[in-house]
Amino acid sequence: MTEILYPKQVILEVTNHCNLRCKGCALHGPQAFTKRPKGFMPEEIWRKAIAEMGTWPQEVNLTTHGGGEPLLHPHLKEILEFAGRFPNLTRGFLSNATLLTEDWADFLLSTGIDWIAFSIDGTVPETHAIVRRGSDLKKIEQNLLNFIQKGKKAHKRPQIMLNMVLYEEVKAQAQEFVKKWLPFVDVVMLSHYRNPPCSKRWPGEHGPRRPCDLLWSQMVVAWDGSMGLCCEDFDIEVCLGDVRNEPLLAIWNNKAITKFRELHRQGRQQELALCHACDTWADMHAVTEEDRENGYLIVRKASSVEYRTLTP
Ligand SMILES: C[S@@+](CC[C@H](N)C(=O)[O-])C[C@H]1O[C@@H](n2cnc3c(N)ncnc32)[C@H](O)[C@@H]1O
Repeated sequence: MTEILYPKQVILEVTNHCNLRCKGCALHGPQAFTKRPKGFMPEEIWRKAIAEMGTWPQEVNLTTHGGGEPLLHPHLKEILEFAGRFPNLTRGFLSNATLLTEDWADFLLSTGIDWIAFSIDGTVPETHAIVRRGSDLKKIEQNLLNFIQKGKKAHKRPQIMLNMVLYEEVKAQAQEFVKKWLPFVDVVMLSHYRNPPCSKRWPGEHGPRRPCDLLWSQMVVAWDGSMGLCCEDFDIEVCLGDVRNEPLLAIWNNKAITKFRELHRQGRQQELALCHACDTWADMHAVTEEDRENGYLIVRKASSVEYRTLTP
């Protein structure tokens, strides 16, 4: 009998609508190339998907963002609360923090999500508005500081991470960004920029090609119920199935994904349109450097450099 595989992470794209038009975004930026329709995940899909994951015999990192801004989903609170009923699910998402009101901050702290990451690109409002079009950095920073303040008073707060993309326009602000925010959050990540639509390569050499761990660890469910191959499948080019019609696990163990896994194992990624130019596989081979003198840990990956605060 073949072994049933379970993902460690499920990306549940609650929406691919966004209120910003970031420079590098494959869905909303000036070089956006995705063609799939925009929408909000209907209740029948998120309830079914979450209820199924809640029965799996292992922990799952349920990530409720995809190509859009999750705080725009009119029922995100219900989604997070429903997921909170299942002890094997850890919950978190990435947000642009533009809509992080007092009300949202109170809700997120009280509902006990495990982690939250905010995308902020630098420390200067003028350049921020260029790379994260439609944003107001001062407002975002105020939202974040309020959230951090409230978090300090809360009985339990989520792990807080920040992600800054190293666009040309802002990369000189990177160290200032780390210095400014690391005292207040758990992780500050400086991510290398990838230029859409053709570049799926991070800067730097990564050694010989290896199978991509995401095929064995990450499940992606788009807002309309279609299951994509991985988080790099921005347009769901590889639709493995529809979660409205089949259990998630049946799709994630079907012939189509098994074929992808086999080709990766055999070193034949070049034959796959989505994988041949992609180097996300290299991210799994992080080199870790420790700098205890300054009280933080630096983790260097192919895609980013992470600064983590060390607990004393
Ligand atoms: C597409 S957003 C969606 C979630 C949410 N709306 C947000 O802004 O965090 C996910 C993350 O991808 C990053 N990103 C977008 N385009 C990128 C690119 N070309 N290279 C590297 N990171 C990128 C964003 O800055 C953000 O942190």
